[in-house]
Amino acid sequence: MAESMSGLHRSHRCTELSKANIGEIVTVMGWVQKRRNLGSLIFVDLRDRSGLLQIVFDENDIGTTGFEKAGKLRSEFVIAVVGKVEARSGAVNENMATGEIEIRATELRILSEAETPPFPIEEESNTKEDLRLKYRYLDLRRPDLQRNLIMRSKVATLTRQFLADEGFLEIETPMLTKSTPEGARDYLVPSRVHPGNFYALPQSPQLFKQLLMCSGYDRYFQIVKCFRDEDLRADRQPEFTQIDMELSFVDVDDVIAVNERLLQKLFKETIGVDVQLPIRRMTYAEAMDRFGSDKPDLRFGMELKNVSDVVKGCGFGVFTGALENGGSVRGINAEGQGAMPRKKIDALVEFAKGFGAKGLAYLSINEDGTYKSSFAKFMTEEQLKDLVDAMQGKPGDLLLFAADEDDIVFDVLGNLRLEIGKNLGLLDKNEYNFLWVTEFPLLEYSKEQGRYVAKHHPFTMPMEEDLDMLDTDPGKVRAKAYDIVLNGTEIGGGSVRIFQNHIQEKMFEVLGFTKEDAYDRFGFLLNAFKYGVPPHAGLAYGLDRLVMLMAKEDSIRDVIAFPKVKDASCLMTDAPNIVEEKQLVELGIEVSETEETETADSQE
Ligand code: AMO
Ligand code: AMP
Repeated sequence: MAESMSGLHRSHRCTELSKANIGEIVTVMGWVQKRRNLGSLIFVDLRDRSGLLQIVFDENDIGTTGFEKAGKLRSEFVIAVVGKVEARSGAVNENMATGEIEIRATELRILSEAETPPFPIEEESNTKEDLRLKYRYLDLRRPDLQRNLIMRSKVATLTRQFLADEGFLEIETPMLTKSTPEGARDYLVPSRVHPGNFYALPQSPQLFKQLLMCSGYDRYFQIVKCFRDEDLRADRQPEFTQIDMELSFVDVDDVIAVNERLLQKLFKETIGVDVQLPIRRMTYAEAMDRFGSDKPDLRFGMELKNVSDVVKGCGFGVFTGALENGGSVRGINAEGQGAMPRKKIDALVEFAKGFGAKGLAYLSINEDGTYKSSFAKFMTEEQLKDLVDAMQGKPGDLLLFAADEDDIVFDVLGNLRLEIGKNLGLLDKNEYNFLWVTEFPLLEYSKEQGRYVAKHHPFTMPMEEDLDMLDTDPGKVRAKAYDIVLNGTEIGGGSVRIFQNHIQEKMFEVLGFTKEDAYDRFGFLLNAFKYGVPPHAGLAYGLDRLVMLMAKEDSIRDVIAFPKVKDASCLMTDAPNIVEEKQLVELGIEVSETEETETADSQE
């Protein structure tokens, strides 16, 4: 039976009480974490979002009815307790913030009873994620998730404070809009008033924030939902949140400077980590060459080495074949892993194949200096020695080589490096290693579409010194684009924008858009540029990823209140779902049979 809380006012959250309050009469409210009966005494751990507090029920203090009521308490009942703060009668609990005190209850009200939850509400739950997500409202009671969401709120608040102090205005941009150019699939919303027409949910506020610069707002920011229909992974959700910003009359260094100060403040004030400024910078070309990745994890070494020159004339066809086809041969040295058993090496070969490798050549250097290798028989002693020297191989090391087109070699070794680093426990979650990756290629060639596509988006400014190559060698043009990388995760990215129409038109030409196409899609921006546009640049963080790393979680689902699962559905609400026929008729939409079956299939 639920009682009213009328006449009671909560005086403290659980962990706001301490030894300093001993002797005070307080009123606390929350959930029963657990109850223990010790004959004449009943102990209850009371939980609220701040933590736990021990309540003691003694018949002498609370009377017979109250004591009987306390005997009925079960986990997750919501209660109000009035009582006196006292020093712990039993042993002090050092693991509890309020471990030195307890409340001697003089009044108890049961505000809400609770059924037994489908899983225990506790830290570091072993419960399967699917079950947790179905009952997300219960899962969210767990202290780890509460800590994460409290941290997320703090990051948002600090961001607003910082950016406001730096002269940024928070301005909202529409959710029902036109397709934006970030390159993923759009989520579409049908229009009832214009049957057959659709809004797109924004993949980012990119075009609107550029328009705000044209309108003279100078510095804009927004903590904003973005929507992208793309394959989901641990660090990708169909709807996610950006800390989005744009600045006028600035260049790369200005954007970097203000963001370094923002990061420094966020890390200091949320998790007490000092970010050393300036943050290291590396060009895209260097990052690929040394780490095989445009978001290198710099918490450990194991850099890639290009050994193409060393193996040029050797007798191993896999190596020379790749070189003849214009590719390269590169390797990594897994130091001290020379004794890795064959089975584990085979697993690495399979791993490499998952990234498109045709194979993975290995050479382990035995303690006596002899080799065990998948290709040594194709090489002379001297060629092997040169190769080992080039890799700085020592007895006890394991050398791994990929030979292929550069793209594949980088992808294979970049990922292999991370996999081995992870297996060896080199990825310390307590270390925060930041890096700006700069000078990204402006374009990348899409074999699928048979044309160049923008690597960042079509409004990104080419580097001035590369402008001429837009006509002659577009693939080589570098962009004024930058990513901020933390421990191997891209937490944000941005660029200086094109603000001269002739460069923008050239860019569209290279991307294979006719002028009509370009005006059709982005006419409002191109026209705005005709009326006076300041040079501008910006950046957006993935807030979810940022908080995930701060909270030392492996998935952004753990820092989002109501996340979706891999197939983009919500296990709690069952979204997406079919709608009433009437709604479809109003929208002029007919669902074809095949689509219905396909959806049903994909949800199995
Ligand atoms: P970009 O596409 O790089 O840039 O996105 C910025 C940041 O958003 C995060 N992010 C995601 N997080 C979770 N789930 C996703 N599906 C997802 N997609 C992206 C990443 C990424 O670094 N308008 C530009 C920014 C600009 O140029 O100013 C943009 O959206 O952390
Ligand atoms: P094979 O001659 O195909 O038996 O390959 C000999 C060795 O080279 C095996 O260890 C393969 O895994 C390895 N290998 C094959 N293709 C490649 C490649 N593209 N890059 C690196 N190693 C390879």
